Amino acid sequence: MEDCPVRHIAFIMDGNGRWAKKRLLPREYGHKVGAEVFEKIVGYCSDIGINAVTVYAFSTENWKRPKHEIEAIFGLFSDYIDNRTETLMKKNVRLVFIGDRSVFSPDLRKRMEAVENKTINNEKLLFVAINYGGRSEICHAVNELIAEGATEVSEEDITAHMYTKLAPDPDLIVRTGGEYRLSNFLLWQSAYSEIYVTDTLWPDMTNEDVDRALNEFKRRNRRFGGL
Ligand code: FPP
Repeated sequence: MEDCPVRHIAFIMDGNGRWAKKRLLPREYGHKVGAEVFEKIVGYCSDIGINAVTVYAFSTENWKRPKHEIEAIFGLFSDYIDNRTETLMKKNVRLVFIGDRSVFSPDLRKRMEAVENKTINNEKLLFVAINYGGRSEICHAVNELIAEGATEVSEEDITAHMYTKLAPDPDLIVRTGGEYRLSNFLLWQSAYSEIYVTDTLWPDMTNEDVDRALNEFKRRNRRFGGL
């Protein structure tokens, strides 16, 4: 397989609610289809040789949504963590949850750890951001460093304490749903990421849309601050 120039791709999976509304369906249905598309897109990224994928499934701000919508998202999440270990093993994917899991029930945390531990020796990485916020992640890293006794921190120290420390920074961040913002996603890691925004709503996202984002990435000239 030809080497993919993108080592790490991240997705802001936006537009599930609008997709459902356009079809006069409940928002929850948009998330259900969104979860199916998430699996298809992650599988495709792995098939074309991208070794790390991060998806934004639930932000620290998403708690402001109606209770039934939050429950629907966590229902999909729960189904995923309990029933996909075999698929992850077959695809050689290590699943890592990023975000503050301290607010979750001990049972949910245990199930999250179980799938993380079962897949720990797999080579590809899938980070699922759940109760995730970029600012909160930076605070978490600094607090860990303080707990270790640091009185001064370097960029390398913070990078080494990010939830995504197992992967290089994302080369490309794809946002569906047409909004031009990061919404508190991977704030530290996105310093030099290329950002690709498409009007496609997440449940309509196809493998061809991923190809379009990758082709656009190849056209861009990354200078990392140089000339
Ligand atoms: C943003 O769309 C989407 C979310 C807040 C939830 C995304 C969750 C999933 C795709 C399911 C995750 C499941 C697993 C297994 C990881 P929105 O609701 O903000 O859409 P809108 O902007 O159209 O309202």
